[in-house]
Amino acid sequence: MEFEISNEQEMIRLMARDFAKKELEPFASEWDRKGIFPLETIKKMGNLGLFGMMVPTEFGGSGAGAVAYSLALQEIAYTCASSAVTMSVANLATEPLLKFGTPTQKEKWLLGLAQGMLLGAFALTEPNAGSDPGSMTTTAVLKKDRYIINGTKVFITHGQYADIINLIARTGPEKGTRGLSAFIIEKGTPGFTIGSKEDKLGLRASNTVELVFNDCEIPVENLLGNPGEGFKIAMLALDSGRIGIASQAVGIARACMDEAIAYSKERKQFGKTINSFQAIQFMIADAATKIEAASWLTLAAAYRKDRGLKFTKEASMAKLFSSETANTVAYMALQIHGGYGYTKNYKIERLFRDARATTIYEGTSEIQRIVIARETINR
Ligand code: CAA
Repeated sequence: MEFEISNEQEMIRLMARDFAKKELEPFASEWDRKGIFPLETIKKMGNLGLFGMMVPTEFGGSGAGAVAYSLALQEIAYTCASSAVTMSVANLATEPLLKFGTPTQKEKWLLGLAQGMLLGAFALTEPNAGSDPGSMTTTAVLKKDRYIINGTKVFITHGQYADIINLIARTGPEKGTRGLSAFIIEKGTPGFTIGSKEDKLGLRASNTVELVFNDCEIPVENLLGNPGEGFKIAMLALDSGRIGIASQAVGIARACMDEAIAYSKERKQFGKTINSFQAIQFMIADAATKIEAASWLTLAAAYRKDRGLKFTKEASMAKLFSSETANTVAYMALQIHGGYGYTKNYKIERLFRDARATTIYEGTSEIQRIVIARETINR
């Protein structure tokens, strides 16, 4: 396989690094401490084209592709993992419209999402339907030319600030994954309200809320794809989403390793800096090796996506390995910091908490193993 990062992809990576340094680094710690969602900064990210990276230019995107997207997202995550998940979900939210939207729907919503004028969210999970979205109970009932939506979605990333929501709901009598359909819900639609906000362990500068639909009426024109295609639309969007979370995890892992290296060069014990001990060097060696592998797995999935190849398995492998790596490396890096790493005075404390979400959302590690096993065994 020939794989090379092009000049353009490298420039995008550097542009994201520069943005992170100027716009995220000075504030990330305070946003985390105070639980602030930095809406103005998020708008700047959108204006820079970071929300429509996999959308072709004809629909308002940058057309940069998944490899460039992964590289940019790694840079954002390195500095602020919360902003990285916002960026990841904003890009995920373009996928259903890009693949299933009519020309009118694309014109109405995709353009705005891709150009960063609209912020998009993705609502699949329910209180009793997490790993198993096929058991969802939110309904969308067709009455003449309108769908009436009732139900509750939970753990919705930036749901409170989103201009449009990709919603999956049950439209047919079929059980499980059949009979689900995808819709676009606009902010401010009567019957649609924001419920409680989660008070999370990490990613505290990302907004996570409940969405409540109470006889919420939307026009039939807001249906995406055909009735009954909702589960497939959600899974295809999640394939892409998992490249995003894998990239976020690689960025977090790199930041953890760099913090550990910097600390180990300064901290002295037994009369010398602790980086001179082999125990510390071996931890860094393991971290560097795992991060390299995670990065290549993630870029390989992105590369396949850019070439129009199926990448379901590769995205799940990347997400599984990178998120587990982020947690292992965060653990080692905090260990290297010793007691200081357990205080709020060092960045590693935030990184450790932020890493934890990556093995859970957009499919737990256990779900990724199910996908990989099915795709490998039933090849
Ligand atoms: N692409 C296209 N179609 C797909 C697909 C994919 N990747 N995966 C499954 N499908 C299709 C299947 O082919 C099948 O089609 P038919 O009905 O025509 O046969 C249909 O969908 C049902 O598939 P399965 O039988 O495999 O469904 P399942 O119930 O066994 O579930 C699963 C499969 C992979 C476990 C899936 O339920 C899953 O991914 N669960 C995890 C959900 C998840 O990741 N949630 C995260 C929510 S988003 C989030 O975290 C929010 C955030 O903002 C960060």
